[in-house]
Amino acid sequence: MTDLKTPINPVPVAVFISGNGSNLQALIDYEVQTPSCPYEIAVVVSNKEKAFGLQRAKDADIPTLVVNHKAYETREAFEKKIIDLLTDFSVEAIALAGFMRVLSPFFVHFYAQRILNLHPSLLPLFPGLHAVEQALEAKVTESGCTVHVVDTGVDTGPMVAQARVPVLESDTADTLHERIHQAEHELYPTALSSFCYNILQDD
Ligand code: GRF
Repeated sequence: MTDLKTPINPVPVAVFISGNGSNLQALIDYEVQTPSCPYEIAVVVSNKEKAFGLQRAKDADIPTLVVNHKAYETREAFEKKIIDLLTDFSVEAIALAGFMRVLSPFFVHFYAQRILNLHPSLLPLFPGLHAVEQALEAKVTESGCTVHVVDTGVDTGPMVAQARVPVLESDTADTLHERIHQAEHELYPTALSSFCYNILQDD
């Protein structure tokens, strides 16, 4: 059995982004600050060459790959290219962190049970693109974020962890999303750690 106090070979993880990458930063910071972290970010993948998260990866000396989905005729061709490129990094798990492309069943099955997603609501409430706005419209008094295993649906896979935040009457989508972001930055690194720790135990 793996003992967290003894050195381990961490699980090589690819983090997929499309934008700012504040959650990528939280994952990097946690890895750097945690002795025997069960994951190691082996590569960062973006479908957008201007994603600020690429700079965060470079600053942390993490290799980056940019695969522009617009250069491919089909979703599968785009995903096949990513899979080809990832073979160089021996990736065993994928953490989606603001990656704005839906993954096809082809990709999800290729990395079956090994893809995590972070979503800015308390799933199953408010799946999809406008979770924060929908939480405000529904006048809920509490929202939060969910880490779940990716299946072939949109934001439907088995839940790994959740964190709750209050929704204030004065909230706008920006203020609520900012509060959710703070919770995400705490939740995602620990959820990814537990997920990878379990992978190590299964190996
Ligand atoms: C997060 O709110 C996450 O829940 C959603 O996309 C956002 C990404 O933010 N999937 P960032 O790029 O990590 O700052």
